[in-house]
Amino acid sequence: MKPHVFVLFGATGDLTQRKLLPALYHMSCQDGHAAAEAPFVVLGVGRSGWDDDRLHNAALSALEGAGIDQAEREAWAADRFAYAQVDAYDELGPVFERADAILDERGWADNLTFYLALPPSVYPNVIEALGARSDEAEGWTRLVVEKPFGYDLDTAKELNELVHDHFSEDQVYRIDHFLGKETVQNVLVFRFANALFEPLWNRDHVERIEITVAETLGVEDRAGFYDQTGALRDMVQNHLTQLFCFAAMEAPAAFDAHSIREEKLKVLRSTLPIDPRSVVFGQYVAANGDDGYTDKEAISKDSNTETFVALRLDVANWRWQGVPFFLRTGKRMPSRYTEISVFYRRPPVRLFEAGGHACRLSNNVLRIRLQPDEGFSLAFEVKGPGERFFTTSQTLAFSYGDAFGNLPDAYQTLLHDIAEGDQTHFVHAAEVEAAWELFTPLLNGSLTSQPYDSGTMGPPSAQRMFYGDDV
Ligand code: BG6
Repeated sequence: MKPHVFVLFGATGDLTQRKLLPALYHMSCQDGHAAAEAPFVVLGVGRSGWDDDRLHNAALSALEGAGIDQAEREAWAADRFAYAQVDAYDELGPVFERADAILDERGWADNLTFYLALPPSVYPNVIEALGARSDEAEGWTRLVVEKPFGYDLDTAKELNELVHDHFSEDQVYRIDHFLGKETVQNVLVFRFANALFEPLWNRDHVERIEITVAETLGVEDRAGFYDQTGALRDMVQNHLTQLFCFAAMEAPAAFDAHSIREEKLKVLRSTLPIDPRSVVFGQYVAANGDDGYTDKEAISKDSNTETFVALRLDVANWRWQGVPFFLRTGKRMPSRYTEISVFYRRPPVRLFEAGGHACRLSNNVLRIRLQPDEGFSLAFEVKGPGERFFTTSQTLAFSYGDAFGNLPDAYQTLLHDIAEGDQTHFVHAAEVEAAWELFTPLLNGSLTSQPYDSGTMGPPSAQRMFYGDDV
């Protein structure tokens, strides 16, 4: 990691406190050096009247309870935090002055990361104002943008144009925090580093692929934001799309940003326009002791915002033609998990049905569990014990936790990559636009959100889309 100033817009906010400050500490410990030696200063920026000490203390309290020795926390935080207050996000004079002073004082090259942990409505102003600086800079300047990136295809294009007026694409790090999750990155290793699965990863052997991101929480205290956003924008256009790309892409030529992003883009561009009849929007209602979405004061009773989406994607290429990818995500589902399930075709034989034995073979299913209990399982058929002849499904399983203990948080990995200038796990402008191109037509208001009980897997029609009429 080269010495640099990490300029953190939104330093007094919730994302900073919950995720970024602990991740900055942990990424400082990577590469085998002591955290206190990591050569960067965090320059917090906000409109609140904070000062250096207040940010320093906020960092220490963000680290409390993270199992880090107090002396180590304090050594890391000493001389690491500065704060610049601004009146408006397009007047960044105080930020540049403070950053320059820090770089001069330490004798560091002009290396700056600008991290926008801000509401998207202020992105344009900040990016314009930062652009002025990036033209003058001699070291590196990196721009990190949190999701949501745009509100639909047109707004994403506008934002990309604005960014590109001031920064080149290799300076831009669009965050989708799912890409920082170890298990998401491991999907590529699993697929391409093992000779066992890849030859079977195609339409000859796979019947369908399901991708589920289920959450138990409702919209909690984000009601105002969420009602303008909905699950398609909040989860599908970004997180689920990334999982879909990793499941569907061809092997990249190299494990680098250019090659991986190129393959993901090909998947998106080969995906057929979505048939609205293969889309279910849902909204949770009060049930099982939980309130309903529109019971929140900030949400109007007739809101149509979707808290659940299930849809089918079809990829028109030689590998996947005819294999449906079912994507599903929702709030207030019965349990929290993220999973990619590959359903292999049933064996084309009837031999076990002979003699009247009830042996309907199940699909072999490979489940890649991305959270919370990270691992894989493979369901296969075995003969049930005893004289009566029957088959039953059993699983082979691997657990990350058992093998490796705790995994790093996604933000730790992503911040480390930014500090190293590695864009592999960030989203390219063209990817963002290709994803919006697929999903924007579903945002024209013609889909009605169907009610589903809190604590269930979504509206019955979505269940039928996934499992047919057996449900
Ligand atoms: C965020 C969404 O991007 O991802 C949230 O805005 C969602 O609505 C969250 O809860 C899920 O992330 P994770 O890492 O908790 O699965």
